[in-house]
Amino acid sequence: MNIFIDSKISDDDRRKELYRGSIFFHRSCVNAEKLCQLARDLIAESFGSLDPRKVQESMSAEKSAEILSVLKPKFIHHPKAKEYIQGMLTELGCDLQKTYFDVPRMRTAFPGDYLKSGIAYAFHPHRDTWYSAPFCQINWWMPIYPISPENCMAIHPRYWYQPLRNGSSGYNYHQWNLESRQNAAQHVKTDTRIQPKPEEPVELDPQFRLICEPGALYQFSAAQLHSTVPNSTDLTRYSIDFRTVHLDDVWTRTGAPNIDSACTGTTMGDYLNGMDLSGLPAEAIALYQDGTECQYGSSANDPKKVAGVRN
Ligand SMILES: [Fe+2]
Repeated sequence: MNIFIDSKISDDDRRKELYRGSIFFHRSCVNAEKLCQLARDLIAESFGSLDPRKVQESMSAEKSAEILSVLKPKFIHHPKAKEYIQGMLTELGCDLQKTYFDVPRMRTAFPGDYLKSGIAYAFHPHRDTWYSAPFCQINWWMPIYPISPENCMAIHPRYWYQPLRNGSSGYNYHQWNLESRQNAAQHVKTDTRIQPKPEEPVELDPQFRLICEPGALYQFSAAQLHSTVPNSTDLTRYSIDFRTVHLDDVWTRTGAPNIDSACTGTTMGDYLNGMDLSGLPAEAIALYQDGTECQYGSSANDPKKVAGVRN
């Protein structure tokens, strides 16, 4: 696996590398800083005088879940968040005419067992491609506050080449939107929603834990196996992630290899054009549809989405 640091290669070449399992790390850029500041402002507004990284010390998990269920959608759909992502993509060499992104998610990982389900789901090892993401999807990840190796995200490179028995065949994105997503905040102690999980022991090591400062970020393919590192610190981790697809790759079905994903449905209806926020051309989306979008009703770009869990 190759790790590129502040690489200036073209986005076309970068995507080729990402589809081969490479990771791209980028130092802080102006718009990523702005996005993190927006997130910090909204977080501070939500928790009042409390230190947002220590709310678990003085607030019930139920109350935190309630606050997050308002905070997260507010961030996800904030017009400034889209503007900063557009700026960030430009700064990092993406062609906005052909790059499509989905709205950014805010994630939280609380220490210990405080709140690990529903709105603050602690992700088991998974590939986003088990969750109906296309193989050309690229994930972008950044911390909102400083992180440490005990409080971050991990990538498990062994499984780039090695298939993992998993439950993705039982997952359909359209069904998930219809039945599960709206209820994320209700799952405080346990999460009963069916998600594609590994169905054999996972060898988590070797693993990469990329530790960077707020404003810095990294990109990886949606086909990489990744997970939430159990937070053994006393500080809550807040992070942002979003995904992109490039129109050329969508048309040509270029992307990472599929070694073990068997889900149905597609997230292709979610991505917004980098220039005008329009969706992908219907004909392009149709290449990825399998009929299940009609069965469950497509919820593409549904403004009601709260995205408690979308991998
Ligand atoms: Fe994920």
